[in-house]
Amino acid sequence: MKKLLIPALLALLPLCVASWSASQEVTVEACQQDVQNNCTKCHSTEKICNELDEADANWPKIVKNMGKKGNLSQEVQDNVLNCLTKSTDPKKVACPKI
Ligand code: HEC
Repeated sequence: MKKLLIPALLALLPLCVASWSASQEVTVEACQQDVQNNCTKCHSTEKICNELDEADANWPKIVKNMGKKGNLSQEVQDNVLNCLTKSTDPKKVACPKI
């Protein structure tokens, strides 16, 4: 029994690491970095923060539009979109005093 347990645990390990790193991408800290690095060249995060108050904000459209304006890579756009729609607390990402 003991002999089987260790390989079984080892087999599970990559799965845990994979799901951990996937969830990493939408942590508030990583998102703050992404937004700071890519979305504050032309305006402050206040614009983003305000928009987060709009229940019907069309984030895919906004991020695509901003991506075009700022020549942001698809990867950056995907990350920021995830941050603003799927992170645990999008307002923490873009609103300074929360
Ligand atoms: C190249 C400059 C530039 C960059 C980079 C940029 N924006 Fe903007 N953003 C603007 C301008 C200019 C406006 C004013 C309204 C407009 O033209 O749509 C704006 C407006 C906005 C608004 C207000 C809603 C709207 O559609 O008007 C939001 C939200 C926003 N930006 C989010 C972002 C996010 C998120 C990023 C990073 C992915 C980003 N912006 C990067 C230039 C930029």
